[in-house]
Amino acid sequence: MGTLGFMGWLGLRHAGASMAWMPAAQGRVFKIRDNPGMSKTDHFIGALDDALRTLFAKPHASRPSPQARLRRESESVHITDTLSAQDKALSASLMRVNHVGEVCAQALYSSQRLATSDPRLQRQFKHASQEETDHLAWTQERIEELGGHTSYLNPLWYAGAFALGYAMGKFGKDPMSLGFVVETEVQVERHLASHLSRLPAKDWASQAIVAQMQKDEIQHAQDAQKAGAQELPQALKTLMGLSAKVMTTVAHRI
Ligand SMILES: [Fe+2]
Ligand SMILES: [Fe+2]
Repeated sequence: MGTLGFMGWLGLRHAGASMAWMPAAQGRVFKIRDNPGMSKTDHFIGALDDALRTLFAKPHASRPSPQARLRRESESVHITDTLSAQDKALSASLMRVNHVGEVCAQALYSSQRLATSDPRLQRQFKHASQEETDHLAWTQERIEELGGHTSYLNPLWYAGAFALGYAMGKFGKDPMSLGFVVETEVQVERHLASHLSRLPAKDWASQAIVAQMQKDEIQHAQDAQKAGAQELPQALKTLMGLSAKVMTTVAHRI
């Protein structure tokens, strides 16, 4: 029994959850926290399950990758094969940075689901995290196609984002937590816009993925705003921007 299998077993024992870890018809897996009436400890185990899944399991997207349409339209030309070695290396580095952003998004939504006791917000965070799982799967697949690797520091990024998200949810309460989501998504959206101009012109596959991610992040920010987000102090926004700069610079290399 692997680590994930163990966590599933632990979750089943603890929560009495009948559906957890059972593969569904379309290759998706029910998460431990999908079961109603769970205690705080069950949610904590669910958060641990989220972390193990993000860091060690292959993510499954619920939507087809945006590059699937491109594959259909140009069956005779494999997009990746038309790229130079230099372009592939650049694209792989940029997509690794985007993948790190998605690792952090998983940590952020998982920690905030744990921190809030509002079932409506828990559902909203869960919905957003499912779309972030699509982003995680698409970026990971694209990195593999480009012959690159995901960041070696992903456990560190995850832990940092989780701690920050939990602190925001617990000590800032829901409006501050939602404000943190809005600011994070806005900064990610700006960052993705910059990547659209930096990706090699011929790498349509990566561009299609990043463009769809950008649309989704805008929607996540709008949803959090509608749910009652509070504007964050400028100093905190600046600090978040600086932390993101450190993360993107490091992740570009390792
Ligand atoms: Fe995302
Ligand atoms: Fe997002």
